[in-house]
Amino acid sequence: MSAPLTVRAAAKINLHLGVGAVRDDGFHPLDTVYQAVSLYDDVQVEPAEEWSVSTELASYLDDTALPAVGANIVDAVGRLLRRSGGPGAKVQISKAIPVAGGMAGGSADAAAAMVALDRLWDLETPDEQLLALAAELGSDVPFALLGGSARGLGRGELVTPLPDHGSYAWVVVPDELGLSTPAVYRHYDKLFPDAPAEPRPANRVLEALFVGDSGRLAVAMHNDLEEVAIDLRPDLGGLLARGEAEGALRGLVSGSGPTVVFLCESPESAQAVAAALQPQHPVTLLAHGPVAGAHLVEVM
Ligand code: C5P
Repeated sequence: MSAPLTVRAAAKINLHLGVGAVRDDGFHPLDTVYQAVSLYDDVQVEPAEEWSVSTELASYLDDTALPAVGANIVDAVGRLLRRSGGPGAKVQISKAIPVAGGMAGGSADAAAAMVALDRLWDLETPDEQLLALAAELGSDVPFALLGGSARGLGRGELVTPLPDHGSYAWVVVPDELGLSTPAVYRHYDKLFPDAPAEPRPANRVLEALFVGDSGRLAVAMHNDLEEVAIDLRPDLGGLLARGEAEGALRGLVSGSGPTVVFLCESPESAQAVAAALQPQHPVTLLAHGPVAGAHLVEVM
C-alpha cells in the first residue's frame, strides 16, 4: 500500500471579468483575468478497492451548498481519468474555500483531484491533456491547475499565464448563502438582453499586473457580473461601500458572487480593514496573491 498523498489548490479572484452575449451552447464568451489567492482546498487520495469521496469543512463553512454524495465534481474527475483504467481510491476533500461563493472552490477540488489521482494511478498524463480534461470538467478548472495570474478566453477555459510583477493583499468576505453561477448568468441575460457579442477586453488589468502596482490594479479592476450579483443581493452593495470607507483601495464582487473581496495597499492595511469589518462579518479572511496552482504538499 502506498502512503496517502495530498494536493493543494487555491481559490481564484477574477480581477477582470468581461462577459459577452450568451452563445448557442449556453455559455458566455469571457475575457477574464484570474488570480490565484491563498485560500486553499486540500485533496488527499490513497489506494482503495472501491471509489469513495468524503468532505471535511473549515469551521466557518456551511455544508448546505455542498453537492450530494456521488455528484461532486471530484466524482467526475475519477470517471474521466479512469477512462484509461485504474482501480478505486479513497478521496478526502478538506475545504477552506467559500462554497458557492464565486471563488472556484469546486474547480480547485477538481484540479487537485486530477493531479493527485494521476500520481496515485501512475497515469503520467501529459500537461496538455490534463488541461483539456480540466476544460471538460468546468470553465475554471484549467486555471485552477495553472495558478498564478492568467488570462482566460473562450468560456474561461483557454488560459495563458500572465507576467505579474506584484504581490497583492486581499480581504475576503464570504457569505453564508451561496449564489448559483448559472442563476447569476441567467440574470445577466435578463438584465442585459443587448449585451455585445465580444466581451469587454482586459487590457487595463493586464497593464496594471505588468507594472505590479496595487493602486493601478484597484482602478482597473472590473466585473460585469457585479451589478448582476448586487441586483440579486442588494446588501452586497453596502458591504462594498463599507470596506472602501474603511480604507480598502477597492472592493469587488468575486466572479458570480456573493463573496466580496477588497484589494488593500499592504498586508497591514488589509488587517485593519478586516478588523473593521469583523463585528458585522465575523468570517472575514485575509489572503494574498498570486500563489501557485494545484501542487503536491507534505501534510504532517
Ligand atoms: O463551466 P462551469 O461548469 O463552471 O459553468 C457552470 C455554469 O455557469 C454553466 O452551466 C453556465 O450556466 C454558466 N457559465 C456561463 N458562461 C461561462 C461560464 C459558465 O454561462 N463562460
